[in-house]
Amino acid sequence: MPYLVAPAIPAGALAATGQPTLPVAAEALLRPWLLTDAEAVREAFRDPAIQRWHLRRADSVAEARGWIEAWQSEWRSETGAHWAFVDAESGGLLGRVALKSFALTDGTAEIAYWTVPSARGRGLCPRAVTVLAQWALYERGFHRIDLEHAMANHASCRVAAKAGFEAEGIRRRAWLHADGRHDVHLHARVRQD
Ligand SMILES: CC(C)(COP(=O)(O)OP(=O)(O)OC[C@H]1O[C@@H](n2cnc3c(N)ncnc32)[C@H](O)[C@@H]1OP(=O)(O)O)[C@@H](O)C(=O)NCCC(=O)NCCS
Repeated sequence: MPYLVAPAIPAGALAATGQPTLPVAAEALLRPWLLTDAEAVREAFRDPAIQRWHLRRADSVAEARGWIEAWQSEWRSETGAHWAFVDAESGGLLGRVALKSFALTDGTAEIAYWTVPSARGRGLCPRAVTVLAQWALYERGFHRIDLEHAMANHASCRVAAKAGFEAEGIRRRAWLHADGRHDVHLHARVRQD
């Protein structure tokens, strides 16, 4: 059956280009993941706050390497795009920012992030999220980027607000984490914002 709309982002358009490196002000970069980041990812997932707000932990460098391989493959399959957030000078890992759950016909995706404990409280994550949202909305044809966090995760709500993601509502009891069910706060940025 023929479609009644043209896709917002034609199939193949993203994968035809390399995943870019994006500067975040002068001090940091979003760059594609490297397998050599695996040790830093395993270390990050030892943090109780990251474990609290994510569903998995990494018990070995090999497991972290497996995640990185999966993140890399999503660019090729146009299902998502994952960046390492690194210090521009030292190259040290500051965190992860990702666009997930691509729906290319609608031109939508969901943004996700974490920062390592030593990078927190400096406004770095909101700056990286802003850069990535602007790249997706104004350079790569996305129309809407969703951002969801557990209602109890106040730091993540501050990231959403500082990066210009409007609050749209609450999905009640939508996420199951290790400590039980959580209400989920939905935010979004759309191209017209
Ligand atoms: C949420 C998170 C990404 C914020 O990153 P960040 O780079 O610290 O962002 P900011 O510096 O803008 O701080 C955001 C809020 O974190 C809180 N915060 C400030 N300093 C902090 C610190 N040292 N440690 C933890 N939280 C801190 C504050 O509430 C701050 O809001 P404010 O600036 O209005 O006071 C980071 O705390 C994190 O990775 N947490 C664990 C994983 C997680 O929650 N991921 C998101 C899942 S939806």
